[in-house]
Amino acid sequence: MQSRYAETYAAWEQDPHGFWADAAGALDWFRPFDTAFDPQLGVYGQWFAGGETNTCHNCIDRHVLAGRGAQAALIYDSPMAGEKRRYSFAEMQREIEAVAAVLIGLGIGKGSRVILYMPMIPEALFSMLACARLGAIHSVVFGGFAAHELSTRIDDFEADLVIAASCGLEPGRIVAYKPLVDHAIEGARVKPRHCLVLQRPQYEAAMTPGRDVDFATLVEAEKAKGTRVPCTPVKATDPLYILYTSGTTGQPKGVIRDNGGHMVALRWSMEHIYGMKPGEVFWSASDIGWVVGHSYIVYAPLLAGNTTVVYEGKPVGTPDAGAFWRVIAEYDVKALFTAPTAFRAIRRDDPDGELIQQYDLSGLRALFLAGERADPETIKWAERMLAIPVIDHWWQTETGWAIAANPLGLGQLPVKYGSPTVPMPGYAIHVLDDEGHAVAPGTLGNIVIRLPLPPGNLVSFWNADERFRSGCLTEFAGYYKTADAGYVDEDGYVYIMARTDDIINCAGHRLSTGAMEEVCAMHPDVAECAVIGVADALKGQIPCGFLVLKNRATRTLQEIEHEVVSLVRNEIGPVAAFKTVMIVQRLPKTRSGKILRGTMQKIADGLPWKMPATIDDPAILDEIQGVMRERGFTLT
Ligand code: COA
Ligand code: AMP
Repeated sequence: MQSRYAETYAAWEQDPHGFWADAAGALDWFRPFDTAFDPQLGVYGQWFAGGETNTCHNCIDRHVLAGRGAQAALIYDSPMAGEKRRYSFAEMQREIEAVAAVLIGLGIGKGSRVILYMPMIPEALFSMLACARLGAIHSVVFGGFAAHELSTRIDDFEADLVIAASCGLEPGRIVAYKPLVDHAIEGARVKPRHCLVLQRPQYEAAMTPGRDVDFATLVEAEKAKGTRVPCTPVKATDPLYILYTSGTTGQPKGVIRDNGGHMVALRWSMEHIYGMKPGEVFWSASDIGWVVGHSYIVYAPLLAGNTTVVYEGKPVGTPDAGAFWRVIAEYDVKALFTAPTAFRAIRRDDPDGELIQQYDLSGLRALFLAGERADPETIKWAERMLAIPVIDHWWQTETGWAIAANPLGLGQLPVKYGSPTVPMPGYAIHVLDDEGHAVAPGTLGNIVIRLPLPPGNLVSFWNADERFRSGCLTEFAGYYKTADAGYVDEDGYVYIMARTDDIINCAGHRLSTGAMEEVCAMHPDVAECAVIGVADALKGQIPCGFLVLKNRATRTLQEIEHEVVSLVRNEIGPVAAFKTVMIVQRLPKTRSGKILRGTMQKIADGLPWKMPATIDDPAILDEIQGVMRERGFTLT
């Protein structure tokens, strides 16, 4: 089929407001919007101003009203808990209404702020959608983050309520979430009025009298009463959720997503990028704690009338590298979305795809990869093994949906390995040099997006308009800075090469090395430190710390290394995967005192590197290389 991409992109360029106004027609509005885009509102303008809607209505009630109530909306499959469940749209509506009724009883309403700290279980989605139903704003915190990170978010968000599960299940261990929540609330300045606790059979959490309430008991009571809770009309421009993401400091940024633009963009993407039809099963093997989970486990599939799979397990080890194939075959999954690291793990354990042969994957039409650079080897392996299109697409927590993709629903474009293909409608991608001048095709530069950002993108950072302006909109006037460097080739294909800030991608998880440095520096024996991301065959990148000790260090070097690793695990969380630290005499710096992290990274990755002209003392790089060699790094 000839791709309709070029004509669709041109239609958007010609009439950007009309394009999205048309897309909005696929959804229900309680009050029509006055204008598709109002440039006067917010930091850079806002979409669908004047409109009133409700995201939960569009995800659930709209389908029930249209007679699709009996269709499966959610399939829960947990090799961790040994459990499977299925909910139709009508059943899901009942569950969500019951949770919403409980929330009302706890004083939650329009504009209230609710933090969720829950694993991949249906109740997490019911809770998110119950918030949406009431116009309360949710903020989901990934379970791999430690108490301190949760505390920071409770404070910044000024949470009224925390909804938590008693535990999460990781291979070989039960992660007790509730004690982390208690610890986080203890350490927070803001004290949520209540904590709604879902007790899982694997771990029963202690309850704090007066504050903690039992999820299951209250929800069951509302279900028994048959309490109905209508969807609260909210403004299209009201926030639906806040998702905290790593910034360049330890203070995470709360990305604000609105209701109207978000639902319009996601609904559009399901049909045109992912090529999904209502009634089909879509599986995003991510976690609801990440943006991929928000957009493509929860909101987009439900908005588009698809069945979503909530999988509580890993690509390997639960029980083996055939786990994904089992799920696809069992539920007739039509499209799978995951991070390249998951496929690297599967390939490592089953290089010849023997487990793939054991399942009927004939229903699977495409594999979508995002979250980190998809290395061509992994893409080619997946193509060979599955014989379906393997589509790399590029986006960020800030954008909420793909900036560049190969839009299957519009007709697939030729694949160029190493490129997530072309800009999606809504995104005018430019590549600029550091002075803000456009560079020629094929030339590396800063990738920026011309304002306004399309629907579904962040509106601002929570309580931090100025941080949004200064961090993202000021350096290149009139553009949003993605903080990714790359280039666009002669055919308009985009290539994403590296971050321009301190963010690294470890196993598809976005982490700030700056935040890790802040934690390393808390150790009493550490005088100075640098954390860089080094290449890793499985996780893409892993963090690696270099520590300079104070003169009178009080412990042995091994003790200090061990303590710093534990400190990062306890402060940021196991998800930081911070396991390698090296003690060095000095850090390489420029004459103005800037640590040469880029050069250290090239050395650690075994890449060609040049002695920086501005280096203060070249001998330090020899010292660092000596330590790296001792630690088993292969250097050039
Ligand atoms: N709750 C608590 N702990 C968690 C957690 C959660 N939700 N998720 C991860 N962790 C822990 C892990 O148990 C691990 O702990 P450990 O150091 O004690 O082993 C640590 O955080 C690091 O996790 P991770 O980096 O994911 O490594 P892993 O070895 O457990 O798994 C992969 C490796 C590749 C299998 C796994 O990272 C994966 O499936 N990645 C897919 C990524 C993804 O879905 N990204 C979302 C964007 S699309
Ligand atoms: P996150 O906000 O966690 O989604 O991480 C966003 C960052 O991950 C981007 O800014 C990129 O650096 C990286 N990223 C995401 N998808 C891709 C991709 N397809 N190719 C290369 N890098 C990607």
